[in-house]
Formats: sequence, C-alpha cells, structure tokens
Amino acid sequence: MHRTTWVEFNSKALRHNAAMVRRLAPESAILAMVKANGYGHGADWVADQLSGIVDGFAVARHSEALTLRAAQPNSRILLLGTEVDDGLLQDCAIQRLDIVIHELGAAKLLANTILPQSITVWLKLNTGMNRLGMCNKDFCEAHRVLSGSPNVAAIHHMTHFSDAETDSPAATDRQFQLLHSLSTSLGELPISMANSAAIIRHPQTHLDWVRPGIMLFGDDPTISLTAADALAPVMTFKAKVLAVRDIEIGDGVGYNRRWQAARKSRIATVSAGYADGYPRQAPDGTPVLINGARAPLAGRVSMDLLTVDVSHLPNVKAGDIATLWGDNLPAAEVGQHCNTISYELFTRITARVDRVYL
Ligand SMILES: Cc1ncc(COP(=O)(O)O)c(C=O)c1O
Repeated sequence: MHRTTWVEFNSKALRHNAAMVRRLAPESAILAMVKANGYGHGADWVADQLSGIVDGFAVARHSEALTLRAAQPNSRILLLGTEVDDGLLQDCAIQRLDIVIHELGAAKLLANTILPQSITVWLKLNTGMNRLGMCNKDFCEAHRVLSGSPNVAAIHHMTHFSDAETDSPAATDRQFQLLHSLSTSLGELPISMANSAAIIRHPQTHLDWVRPGIMLFGDDPTISLTAADALAPVMTFKAKVLAVRDIEIGDGVGYNRRWQAARKSRIATVSAGYADGYPRQAPDGTPVLINGARAPLAGRVSMDLLTVDVSHLPNVKAGDIATLWGDNLPAAEVGQHCNTISYELFTRITARVDRVYL
C-alpha cells in the first residue's frame, strides 16, 4: 500500500526492555501493563511478544480485558480499578480475569454473590494518590470479608505510587511503609506496588509483583538509567517529506504564519499532523529528524501536515523520511517541548496511521 505516515514497532526493543525489568527486579513476578492498547503499541502484539517472558498483563477496561483474553487464552490478565457490579464479577469468573477491588462495597458484593468459579482479587490501598483505593479500615474489612470466601481464589495487596519518578524518595517511602506494614499485619500475602519509576528507583518496593508500563516501551520516567541499562524505543513514528520549498526573509509558514523566516530558508512539509497524533501544541523548535538529522519544527502543526526548517540540510527532497519520535529522538524529549509526556504521545496515534510490526 502507498504509505506516507506510519509507526514502526520493534519487537527486539520490547523484549530488551522486558529483560531490563527482569534484571532490575529479579525476585519479582512481572505484570506487564498493556492498558490503552498496550500504550498505543497494540495490546495483542505486545502480549504476544512478551508471553513466556512476563507473568501476566493488566488492562484498564473490561473491553480491553475481553479482547486480550481472546488473544491470550492462558495468561493471567488483571482488570484494574473499575466499576464493579455483579455482571462484571460473573464475567471475570467466566473469563478467568483477576480484578482490582478498590472499595469496600465491591468486596461485599463479591463475597455475597454466587460465581461459577472463584477469582483472584487485588485489594487496593489508597496510600496517598487519592484516586482509587481503600482507606486502612476499609482495606482490612475487605480483606476480612474476602478471606475464606469460596468466590476468592487468592488475595493480593496493591497500591500505586504518586511520586516514584521524582528525586525525592520521601512520599514513595511513606506509601511503601503504609501498605507494607498493613499487609504484613494481615498475613503473608503477595504485594504489588512498583510501576516503572519504582522499579528503576526504589528497589525495596519490588516485592512480589512489579507492574511496568512505560519502561517496556522504552521511556525511563526517572531519567536516571545509565547507558549500560538503557531502554530501547519500541515505537518510531515516521512520515514522508511531501514537498520542499525555498522562502524569502519575512515569509511566514503555516496557519497564521506563526513562524517567520529571519533569513532565506528551506521548508520541508511532512505528511503528519494532529489528526495522526502529532501534538498540535508543538512549538517552533520542537525537534524532528529528517533523514536522521535534527531539524526544528517551523510553524503551527495542521491536521495532516507539519513543517520543518531544513535550511541547514541542503539535500532534503520530497520522498525523504522524517522521524517524529522513536529511534534517535526520544518521545520524552518531544513531549517536553509539547508540555506532555511520552505516555500521551504513544496513546494518541490515530487509527489512520499505518502500523508496521518489525
Ligand atoms: C495501577 C497502575 N500500575 C502500574 C502502572 C504503570 O505505570 P508506568 O507506565 O509508569 O510504569 C500504571 C499506569 O499508569 C497503573 O495505573
């Protein structure tokens, strides 16, 4: 097919990053986060590449869990915090889905319903994120209500960190202590806390299950890994140069001529815009690679096109390849220019962009 805008996915990089998780947390089981369609990489593909390497997968929506179950009949799949009703519990039992219980009412519902088979629950404690999760009292009560219930195959304890990527360990240490001491007071249950940042920066939090997301896809949210431990980008967003033109001093480029030439300039027009998932808020100067060389975005990103100042790259021509992020241009760096994070860039690639799995 004729292709001008595509994302490439590198399976070797994905497996390299999973091996790095294993190296950093050798004693822990790995629950790979493949919510939001595998952070935009294709949940089925990611799970297929990682099956046999990791110990399970987690998703955020019931629909995601059902799609993944069809592709992964035998893997552990955890449905993260969601609205729990009897229909959902029945389906978790039928589909063999683990479920996060984040409020006491859901624990009571689970204890009092009749299920075709028991399910594994992950009880979530709120340790400071104040998003989902129970207070200590409800957590203990949920644990009591579900312990010994015929509907419950196993209980895990979990929390989610709010600050693990930051320089200051105080908040993470506190969150760690809150769950660790409460959990151990209730028995010897599997505990899960660590997201990517905690896997990298807080080894004491690894415990029984780690939950890496973004690091599997090549971004280190702590910006602290050394070259020896470097992660590899899995997604590379590419597009073709459709046109190159010379412009005069004072000429403007794109809507409202936001960028104006301070000298005679060459502008490359690239086949990617906000309708492909490139952020419209990208300012002038956001880096783009043209045939592997850095060049600054020049002018407002439009729906299907963006424009780059290639005055210093005299050989650029139509048909050349632009890299918007990925190999040699970290998505996190582009995200910084655009006041966002790699997570958002990855999950915003739209349906019309071709997916190429390498
Ligand atoms: C409950 C939970 N655990 C783990 C993760 C993985 O986080 P990260 O992608 O930062 O590793 C997420 C992602 O937001 C999450 O919601």
